[in-house]
Amino acid sequence: MPNPVLIAPSLLAADHGNFSAGISVIEAAGLNWVHLDIMDGHFVPNISFGPQVLSDLRPRTKLFFDTHLMLLHPDRYIEAFARAGAQRITVHVEADHDVARTLAKIRELGCAAGIALNPDADPSAVIPHLHSVDLVLCMTVFPGFGGQSFIPSVLETIRKIDQERTARKLTYRIEVDGGINAETSKLCRTAGADTLVAGTSFFKSADPSAAVRALIG
Ligand code: DX5
Ligand code: ZN
Repeated sequence: MPNPVLIAPSLLAADHGNFSAGISVIEAAGLNWVHLDIMDGHFVPNISFGPQVLSDLRPRTKLFFDTHLMLLHPDRYIEAFARAGAQRITVHVEADHDVARTLAKIRELGCAAGIALNPDADPSAVIPHLHSVDLVLCMTVFPGFGGQSFIPSVLETIRKIDQERTARKLTYRIEVDGGINAETSKLCRTAGADTLVAGTSFFKSADPSAAVRALIG
């Protein structure tokens, strides 16, 4: 496995009335990434938050802004998120845009590029883009809400994306997102994932540091 395992807590599961507090919990747990779930109510049946949350949080933390755009037209918003302080911008292969052009634009803006696929997607949909991303996000729930149950069939997708990574001698991260806890984290890591988004299992835990140990145990 080319990448050290890391955890990216999702602010979607934190207190939306005080995102700074959520950032502090992540920092206190000794983690370096925050996962920012951006939802437009069109690509997914929920609305979360926009670029101003990132620009307001940016000067208050050194955490890496791992930004997951669950937007129908992500290409229209990548500049705003890049300017707001996003450091990786991940877009869905299923959204309504020219995927290759969007990924190129993300990189031109100085951000790392990620590509995401939903649990029912055919992994072949992302194959043409693997050379131009440094992260592949395999959704382990259908996006829109935290606290859902893990979909085990995605493990086969993770294995396929990992096989492609090895075969092509690429080093992109494989991120999983949704229903990740101590048990499902182990399944995903065995299948080849190295980057774990944790919303509920981190923020709803009485002891987030213990939750981190359980996730990478
Ligand atoms: C779902 C989001 C996930 C979610 C995390 O659309 O993309 O990141 O917030 O899910 P849980 O709470 O299951 O870890
Ligand atoms: Zn996410």
